[in-house]
Amino acid sequence: MSGLRLADEAATNALAGELARTAPPGAVVYLHGNLGAGKSTLARAWLRAIGVEGTVRSPTYTLVERYPLAGGGEALHLDLYRIGAPGELEFLGLDEAGAALWLVEWPERGTGALPPADLHVRLEPDGAGRRARLEPGTPAGAAWLARLRPEGRLAPDS
Ligand SMILES: Nc1ncnc2c1ncn2[C@@H]1O[C@H](COP(=O)(O)OP(=O)(O)O)[C@@H](O)[C@H]1O
Ligand SMILES: [Mg+2]
Repeated sequence: MSGLRLADEAATNALAGELARTAPPGAVVYLHGNLGAGKSTLARAWLRAIGVEGTVRSPTYTLVERYPLAGGGEALHLDLYRIGAPGELEFLGLDEAGAALWLVEWPERGTGALPPADLHVRLEPDGAGRRARLEPGTPAGAAWLARLRPEGRLAPDS
């Protein structure tokens, strides 16, 4: 499939809302794409959709921002653009079991120190908008995508 067309930022936000609504507990999501592709936009909208209020900070320098969730557990938003080596992740003391959601920008820089992705979201420029491709990484991710696809809004555009 060639992906979903996201004509503007509102479309990226809508995709985030759909993914947030349907995500399995503990979902691990890798957000791929170059600077400016819309990874942080998607992550911010996703966090909002699951009830995070107040400032959503960029984890550019901290590597991770953690958000306790009303339903228990916490959402983790990582941006590994500036990580020196994947081993630095070990010092953050992230609780893999207690995390209700992982949203990871620049996941390829954390190879070996991250849980495997249930879902890969690949974002790329497409004219003034963006294109998103969704690929499962685990059986749970495949089941997730199978739940989404029949709903129309996330059907591939070609
Ligand atoms: N679907 C879209 N169409 C057009 N612009 C978008 C879209 N999604 C996000 N943007 C814009 O792209 C810019 C960069 O987004 P950002 O999320 O910071 O990228 P990244 O985290 O991948 O570097 C922002 O100004 C945002 O408003
Ligand atoms: Mg970003």
